Amino acid sequence: MEARRYAVAADHPDASQAGAEILAQGGNAVDAAVATSFALAVVRPESCGLGGGGFMLIHRPGAAPVALDYREQAPAGTQIDLYRDANGKLDPTRIQRGGLSVGIPGTVCGLLHAFDHYGSGRITRAQVLAPAMRLANRPLAVDGHLAESISDFIDACAKQPELQRRHRDLYASLVDENGKARTLVDRSDIAITLEAISDHGPDGFYKGPVAKSILRTIKEDGGVLTAADLASYRVREVRPIERTCFDHAILAMPPPSSGGAVIIEAMNVLQAIGLDKLRAAHAIESGAVTEAPSGVNARFGDYSHYLIEALKPAFADRANLLGDACPAVAADVARMIDPARGRVIANQIDVDHAAPWTRYNDGAMTGDDGGTSHLSVVDADGMAVACTESVNLEFGSRMLVPDTGIILNDTMDDFALDTTKPNAFGLRQSERNIVRAGSRPLSSMSPTIVLKDGDVRLVVGASGGPRIITSTLQVMLNVIVSDERVDNAVAVPRLHHQWLPDEVRVQPGFSHRLRRSLEHRGHVIESRKDIGHVQAIERLADGTLRAACDPGKGGRPAVE
Ligand code: GLY
Repeated sequence: MEARRYAVAADHPDASQAGAEILAQGGNAVDAAVATSFALAVVRPESCGLGGGGFMLIHRPGAAPVALDYREQAPAGTQIDLYRDANGKLDPTRIQRGGLSVGIPGTVCGLLHAFDHYGSGRITRAQVLAPAMRLANRPLAVDGHLAESISDFIDACAKQPELQRRHRDLYASLVDENGKARTLVDRSDIAITLEAISDHGPDGFYKGPVAKSILRTIKEDGGVLTAADLASYRVREVRPIERTCFDHAILAMPPPSSGGAVIIEAMNVLQAIGLDKLRAAHAIESGAVTEAPSGVNARFGDYSHYLIEALKPAFADRANLLGDACPAVAADVARMIDPARGRVIANQIDVDHAAPWTRYNDGAMTGDDGGTSHLSVVDADGMAVACTESVNLEFGSRMLVPDTGIILNDTMDDFALDTTKPNAFGLRQSERNIVRAGSRPLSSMSPTIVLKDGDVRLVVGASGGPRIITSTLQVMLNVIVSDERVDNAVAVPRLHHQWLPDEVRVQPGFSHRLRRSLEHRGHVIESRKDIGHVQAIERLADGTLRAACDPGKGGRPAVE
């Protein structure tokens, strides 16, 4: 979809529309992103919302970029022993769902901070919340993505009937008397919370009746989050990671996001392989040409092989080195994104053979769509926002706070409970990300802004657990290395490798010939329905905007 003035790409059409409405009223990209996010809190209850957290990256023409970390935080009373079963063994189910899985929600604080500090000042709080309020006051039509999420919840309850009782409020709101997913969901309760936020700002959520309901719900399910935890939650305003790759400036999210470091490390490896070789290999793989230009050594399958081999060390570093922001993690991020490291890794790649995962064990330097949503905005003045928010797994902790419409996150599961075992996304992690009071868990959310000569070239990000990183990276490469239109760049089937398990996941539509070429080099290939859901906006040199929403989640951009 093309536009001259502004574009909003969210993973639900009504949310994109909410942002466009605010831009039409004179708001800037931040105002629009805030309105879009509040709207998503109503219409994507499976993916994000007031009970979750997120990251927002802001590009301001002529001013320094800003990164906002409003990730959930472990309550002060968090102790690892809370997650042990009656026999003293660590029990991952306790951190995955229910009261002990809930981190202090950051979304409301983050959105209002962004609005107050970086909004245009021309839009009132009531105005920015108005589209979400309107959506809350009409039944929510269940689309394909929500229906699938409800159906997964019904299946989980069928397997473990006690879940239906434990999460009865959420179950009743999503499932009808016949045990089938509702076709219309009543989200009117969230209007009460939105009104409290409109009237009282952050206090409408973190203090007063809404906070009391949140605390009661968590306590009844064995959680330890307190009124003091809610009242003391703060946004962290941090400097984005800024690096030049392929002649573009990349603005990316620092820890506790792992996305920025992993994406830039992988890009450095690919850059070291060489732009001409990559472009030629991509053109052969996409069918645009049958052979590389003379003097360039590239064959069918090389592009995906290089990509996989670049992802392995970057994800291994994620596992071994990353955690919440602190000086030690910052030092390792600096080493991960050093182009010299990219060159060392690139030199080790054997184009005919997959590297064993053990090459990157112990930190080689010395050593299912989750409940997430991404939105991208570019306004008429060239300001841009990339914002990714989450409740972690679909419907988060599965706890719906009565009379508030808030679904609480289960983001505590993004911490490592046991460093010898993978988490719900199959990710392994180190002591750096161990569950710890007051910390924020490592995330894959990767809001990213790419600039060319100081102007926005691409705003991009995704949902989908660790596949966020690989899908965001692939769309970036498709646009800035291979010059694809953003809609094609988002729509083509993708692959995913996260170091461990040592296998390549590929989407339907991934060509059999390419699969065979990778298998021939020793890669183990598995199929997966989706590799992230990307929402992206590209800006061409003449100012034209092109926006694309991932066909897999049902979003539609709103533009003018
Ligand atoms: N909860 C998913 C992530 O932040 O990676």
